[in-house]
Amino acid sequence: MTTVLWHTMRTLYWRIRRPDEERLEAMVGPPGVWRETRAFQIQFLKRMGLKPHHRVLDVGCGPLRGGLPLISYLDEGNYLGIDVRPEVVEEAHHQIHKNDLVDKRPRVLVSMTFGREELSNAAKFDYIWCFQLLYHLDDDHVDECLAQVARRLAPGGAGYGNINTLAARGRWKEFPFLQRPIEYYERIANRHALRTRCLGQLDDLGYTKKARGRFNHMLEFLREQ
Ligand SMILES: C[S@@+](CC[C@H](N)C(=O)[O-])C[C@H]1O[C@@H](n2cnc3c(N)ncnc32)[C@H](O)[C@@H]1O
Repeated sequence: MTTVLWHTMRTLYWRIRRPDEERLEAMVGPPGVWRETRAFQIQFLKRMGLKPHHRVLDVGCGPLRGGLPLISYLDEGNYLGIDVRPEVVEEAHHQIHKNDLVDKRPRVLVSMTFGREELSNAAKFDYIWCFQLLYHLDDDHVDECLAQVARRLAPGGAGYGNINTLAARGRWKEFPFLQRPIEYYERIANRHALRTRCLGQLDDLGYTKKARGRFNHMLEFLREQ
């Protein structure tokens, strides 16, 4: 009896939840790994020492797949997401309301300059999170993105971003999908006085085996002392 009830509840839950998840996932990536990709982001950042009092800048935040659990976890006012697409930022605002997270005072902005034009000089962050972003940026944008990471890191802060070193180049929506070696990012980071460390493949960091992205490498960017 309990098993039947559990299965019925689960089927109903999926009927209600799936369409929204599928719609949101279609805005940010390949299908079928929404939950795993959501869980990975906060788990990884916690493993890197994230605590509720830290300030997080989520660059290329999309409709908050990783953002919603971060907003829930962080203290009020400590989450800022930016994305270049107005329609996903609009969806992000909708998700914040729908999930009753307005009281956490998250901010999500459209920015074409990685926050350079929108944020004040004083805006600094303990964690700058560039998940599934760097390989969608052309060379000039990688340069601008890492320049802003360097500018926005608080003392002792860290930036993280995964990169594609293996899969052939292509396109995803209106963005390129680029394969580049670790040294490419190291060189640009260096130009902005950032030290780069490769933390290994996402596969070794707990990302789902269901996604090709598990072969991406995760880079850490720290300000030179
Ligand atoms: C693959 S999605 C990942 C979204 C989110 N990080 C997540 O994990 O769900 C990449 C996101 O980067 C955003 N993006 C691409 N180029 C950007 C840029 N120059 N500045 C800010 N966001 C950008 C896209 O609009 C998209 O939402």
